[in-house]
Amino acid sequence: MPPVPKMPSSRNQPKNPKGQATSRMDRILIEGGVPLHGELAISGSKNAVLPLMVAALLSEEKLVLRGTPRLADTRTLAQVLEGLGATVEEFGNGPGEGVSVQAAKLTSTRAPYELVSKMRASFWVIGPLLARAGQAQVSLPGGCAIGTRPVDLYLKGLEALGADIDVSGGYVNAAAPHGLTGGRIDLPFVSVGATHVLMMAAALAKGETLITNAATEPEVVDVGHCLQAMGAQIDGLGTRTLHIRGVARLGGADHQVIRDRIEAGAFALAVAASGGKATLTGIGAADIGALASSLRLAGVDLAETGTQGLQICAPDGRPKATHITTEAYPGFATDLQAPFMGLMCCAEGVSRIRETIFENRFMHVQELARLGADISLEGDTAIVTGVEKLHAAPVMATDLRASVTLVIAGLMAEGVTEINRVYHLDRGYERIEEKLSACGARIWRERI
Ligand code: UD1
Repeated sequence: MPPVPKMPSSRNQPKNPKGQATSRMDRILIEGGVPLHGELAISGSKNAVLPLMVAALLSEEKLVLRGTPRLADTRTLAQVLEGLGATVEEFGNGPGEGVSVQAAKLTSTRAPYELVSKMRASFWVIGPLLARAGQAQVSLPGGCAIGTRPVDLYLKGLEALGADIDVSGGYVNAAAPHGLTGGRIDLPFVSVGATHVLMMAAALAKGETLITNAATEPEVVDVGHCLQAMGAQIDGLGTRTLHIRGVARLGGADHQVIRDRIEAGAFALAVAASGGKATLTGIGAADIGALASSLRLAGVDLAETGTQGLQICAPDGRPKATHITTEAYPGFATDLQAPFMGLMCCAEGVSRIRETIFENRFMHVQELARLGADISLEGDTAIVTGVEKLHAAPVMATDLRASVTLVIAGLMAEGVTEINRVYHLDRGYERIEEKLSACGARIWRERI
């Protein structure tokens, strides 16, 4: 066993003005082998709050979002929105906290490369800008390097609503000087982002829009509910066909954001991986959907508690190897593929993990291998032969969901795992060290 380094108190760490200790160079250290026990509170959904903040651009009035997480990604998006003329204000502390966004006037319709390249979701402003101002110049997006991630569906969809689109110099220039008009959009495959953007744009278009093959992810439904509260006329939320009757203007709203099913899934996997027993609060088994069935197949016990919560209990021995295939909702979420692989590294038997949504979402494999995992790749499938133990090593977070996978693996590994490039983690997981250490994990952050 390597000597156990002293864990500095996270209270003494330098913090940014929003109260989170973050730096591009921070690293996280985890001493594995400690079972998690206690409660893990699930934050508001990152993938819901980002499009919800974007939706505020559709109205002159204030949109109040409650139960929002404080993340690097929400701060990046706030900068994008402020650059367009919106006022973004965080309020409250703890469970009552939230953010309000008001775009009384759009002072710009340009979203620059410097900001959009940091996070793909900031590209989504193209929909509201075009619908409300009749024009938009938005940099082509960046975000996690998990595949080519083109924007063709967005552009074809906006063209179907009457926009003129030109792509040059790394920017999409879109114009609809007389406003958007409703139309029919048949998406060739499911895209969460394209559904958000086209639903928002159609909400202010003249006439009716039909979107087929729409995404049914809970975050899309949440955005749809918020748009309805703002006055949008949308039928079919949660189904593959959306029918939207455009209105001339949208108002403000006060909206409670859904909990983060992806954070909840990662924590369920962390508890199972650590050999512990803990309750996720604010979420039920139905919220983690297909993951709940896969966890049960792996031998993990899930029980709804009386209050709103989900108790996760690790199996007595090693988990059983379980196959998964990622799919659009309600299938197994691609955002939980890497964390699930983390658990499977120490499973009994061989699991096949197939990724069908993104073409390059296996970058965590080589990092898991550094911890002693036995994984081979065959096209879109990772074959994971469970090993009895992982062993600590320095590793690097390569993208948002890969980063939490390394935390899960670190909880299982013998010794002290050092995770570098944790800015990926800070994009999507609120106060993760604090939450896990409250359940007994030996995890701490080092600033470099
Ligand atoms: C969102 C989520 C992300 C999740 C993903 C799939 C947010 C902020 N991000 O990302 O966490 O992993 O959904 O559930 O909510 N595609 C095209 N052309 C397009 C648009 C998409 O080819 O114009 C492809 C993508 O490259 C990908 C697939 O469609 O292969 C699905 O991507 P999409 O659902 O659009 O993902 P995002 O909305 O970017």
